[in-house]
Amino acid sequence: MVYDVVSAFKEVVMRLAGPLLAVTMAASVGVLAQAPAATRAGVQTPTFSRDVVPILQRSCQNCHRPNSIAPMSLLTYDDTRPWARSIKARTETREMPPWFVDRTIGINRFKNDISLTDQEIATIGKWVDAGAPRGNPADMPPPAQFPDVTAWQIPNPDLVVTTDEARVVPATGPDWWGNIVTADAVTTEDRWIKSVEVKPVQGFKAVHHIVTSIVSPDDPRALADSGDAGGTLSEYSIGKNGDAYDEGTARLLPAGSKINFNVHLHSIGEDTPVKGAIAFHFYPKGYQPKYIMRAHLLGGDTEQMLDIPANTDNVRLDTYVGLAFPSVITQFEPHMHNRGKAMCLEAIYPPSKQAAFSRNGGTKSEILSCVDRFNFGWVRAYEYADNVAPVVPAGTILHMISWHNNSSSNKINYDPTNWIGFGNRTIDDMSHMWLGYYNISEEEYQQRIAARQSHPTEQQQP
Ligand code: HEC
Repeated sequence: MVYDVVSAFKEVVMRLAGPLLAVTMAASVGVLAQAPAATRAGVQTPTFSRDVVPILQRSCQNCHRPNSIAPMSLLTYDDTRPWARSIKARTETREMPPWFVDRTIGINRFKNDISLTDQEIATIGKWVDAGAPRGNPADMPPPAQFPDVTAWQIPNPDLVVTTDEARVVPATGPDWWGNIVTADAVTTEDRWIKSVEVKPVQGFKAVHHIVTSIVSPDDPRALADSGDAGGTLSEYSIGKNGDAYDEGTARLLPAGSKINFNVHLHSIGEDTPVKGAIAFHFYPKGYQPKYIMRAHLLGGDTEQMLDIPANTDNVRLDTYVGLAFPSVITQFEPHMHNRGKAMCLEAIYPPSKQAAFSRNGGTKSEILSCVDRFNFGWVRAYEYADNVAPVVPAGTILHMISWHNNSSSNKINYDPTNWIGFGNRTIDDMSHMWLGYYNISEEEYQQRIAARQSHPTEQQQP
């Protein structure tokens, strides 16, 4: 636990919400890929070939390989050996791999989890302390296979839309924000989206973010289906993965839609042409989804009130939104800027529904998840594993709490003597969370809660 405010807060919440947590969580330890070799680490000195490579393959090499986004390759022993100390340091502090969810509270099973177990971190530490031995090359697992770095991460894109012309970011100059709308419609028929991904296809180093949305003036369904966030589709920031909706769950891309790319660009010392693109994978034509995916910008209406005094740590902002229908929360994506420190998502339940959750007398609220080491360099969407994705009753209030650190203890603070408020510039700050969710019927809500309660083994807290 890294700082006081959240730790104290967590203790209170854990006491209040203990029984309830058990219902919506599943065991997070040891279920996801554990290198079998790691279990032998206690008796033998870990070696690169036998114990470390499986960890690197699962959690590091997708970025740490030639022409990917990381500065060095971790594919071979010779590539990795010079970085041994740095690897130990970065994994011990959980700065690498970039995964910033607090493992001590809330739901801790995610579809796209690349984080290391405590045991894996210990294996790396022991390997480095023993002089980072190669071991027997015959112990090496076969090389891991990765997609081409220029390839889309979502499977089988059916439609790729690129911004019409490149926008040149000058070598030096202020940041630029703006909307770039495609001149033409991108589809002539209604299509249901299964997965979507946004990225720069040119000049990616000058791109801070790209937020895409559906522009559908003559079809209000696009807006109605997407909650308060208008037609917002998907966001790119450095390191972001695509968005894949659960089977049976879809967003509509109505016939005649254009795509708006809202971009934030910054100068990087040379004139840089930038182009963005969005890729869609659709359900088959004629498909009728069971659930309609919604994207809500939680905090978008309160972050303008950010009021962060100079030289101050743990500046807290709260925001609330009510859910009119029973809902399944599929993912969250915190967004702040350089002073951002932590963010939690809490569910506050309506009194009449408390009993439906608890086996031990009911409770009012629970922390669903926290990010306790927010890192502005990485924007990540955390996707809940299906059997632990929060299923919440109609009338639930979602409560988001953010903390900012505007003191000198924040290493990337430009100037702690400045007051900071909301703004688009990188030196201003923000406090919002993209929330992915879909509504279910009251009947289905009851069924899902009953199903969860009848599988106690999946509900134990780690
Ligand atoms: C999602 C992509 C990604 C993954 C996964 C990832 N890294 Fe990195 N890593 C980066 C990037 C980008 C940087 C450079 C920027 C930074 O330091 O944050 C970096 C930096 C580092 C550094 C610091 C290098 C230096 O200059 O000192 C180390 C060490 C490192 N990573 C180790 C690891 C290890 C070990 C893993 C797996 C356990 C891992 N990384 C997983 C992208 C990744």
